[in-house]
Amino acid sequence: MRTIAVVGTGYVGLVTGVSLSEIGHTVTCIDIDEEKVKRMQQGESPIYEPGLSDMMSKNIEKKRLFFTTVHEEGFKNAEVIYIAVGTPEREDGSANLAFVEQVAKDIAANVTQDTIVVTKSTVPVGTNDRIQSIINENLAKNVKVEVASNPEFLKEGSAIYDSFNGDRIVVGSNSEEAANIIEEINKPFGVPVFKTGIKSAEMIKYASNAFLATKISFINEISNICERLDANVEDVANGMGMDKRIGDKFLNAGIGYGGSCFPKDTKALIQIAGNVKYDFELLKGVVKVNQKQQGLLIEKLKERLPDLKGKRIAVLGLAFKPNTDDMREAASLVVTEELINAGADVVAYDPIAMENAKKILNDELQYANGVEEAVNGSDAALVLTEWDEVKNVELDVFDRMAYPLVIDGRNCFSIEEMKENRIEYHSVGRPSVS
Ligand code: UGA
Repeated sequence: MRTIAVVGTGYVGLVTGVSLSEIGHTVTCIDIDEEKVKRMQQGESPIYEPGLSDMMSKNIEKKRLFFTTVHEEGFKNAEVIYIAVGTPEREDGSANLAFVEQVAKDIAANVTQDTIVVTKSTVPVGTNDRIQSIINENLAKNVKVEVASNPEFLKEGSAIYDSFNGDRIVVGSNSEEAANIIEEINKPFGVPVFKTGIKSAEMIKYASNAFLATKISFINEISNICERLDANVEDVANGMGMDKRIGDKFLNAGIGYGGSCFPKDTKALIQIAGNVKYDFELLKGVVKVNQKQQGLLIEKLKERLPDLKGKRIAVLGLAFKPNTDDMREAASLVVTEELINAGADVVAYDPIAMENAKKILNDELQYANGVEEAVNGSDAALVLTEWDEVKNVELDVFDRMAYPLVIDGRNCFSIEEMKENRIEYHSVGRPSVS
């Protein structure tokens, strides 16, 4: 078992640190936010992620998991240092690498023994070579530091499960020895390891996210055509997915992809390609389709209620997907803003994300304590996130509306059941019930 430091306790860093401690390594997570570090030392997770808090508490108790704000302390004795700080999107869509570069300098200043530096942050192709140069140029002691790329493929909401059940772990390294050590560290996860060069590993991350985003935009386009032809996109996706070359995952039509990864990484890859004078036309289309898709829900609502002024609209679900409180790039940001601008009274409900939502959404938004309260007396209900609590709601809850009109951006309900319950229902790429 190894002594490991993880720099950055955002979503990727924290899950990485906690799961590495779970398989027996001694892990110190480093973050500059003192308040956050104090909470984490008590076993409190700063993000909502099923299973994470329990696993944190267990490993803190076993003295395998530590949190600190002091780099020196974290790097002391660390054989391996993971970089997991953010790479936020710049105005032009490119990734801002200031945090990563600062960590490289901190590592160079503080390491006292030969170390492997593993980059988990999603960084443009060529960045790991740059990290290696920064470290080499700034090394305070005469030690050897080997930089490797180990991109992250976890999904929010199922990150702990994914750590132990992932499809692959990608390791990009110039040194066979370093790659073997990273492979050995990860062995207890029981996930296959794919070893390659550094640049290819960096590209695998972007290409994977871009491909998944492409699948989503593709099925969303098909859904828009299905609506016009009276076909059912769910049946189409099921029929397509039976072909193993296509696969049945990530073919759910909806209101477009959101979150902290797909929107950022697709735009960054367009930039990366542009930097080497390549016009990534397909991916530009994927991004454009995604923006269009978010607006279609409001268009459907306006077809039914052309004047939204003074209309009470229930919004069910605010997070970018279920099982997370993450609001980054959620469709709800665009949808609620448009509703309020059109003069509607918007009453929103989300099982987990409301606290985060209140910090960023328009102050005019009202919040309800449940689906029932949100739809009560409303003129229309919009479904933005497919939470189980929304999917499994008793359909007679919609009797509380002035007139039962449901516009569903996530295909949560069965068309037959909506018909039986006499609810006017418009979903994505499926026949409407009027
Ligand atoms: C995504 C990838 O799935 C992970 O493999 C990757 O590690 C992660 O980005 C990252 O780069 O860190 P995540 O953003 O957590 O994970 O969420 P996903 O479950 O992939 O969903 C992304 C968005 O696509 C959501 O808004 C979701 O509603 C939407 N989506 C997903 C669809 O509209 N249709 C689908 O069929 C699947």
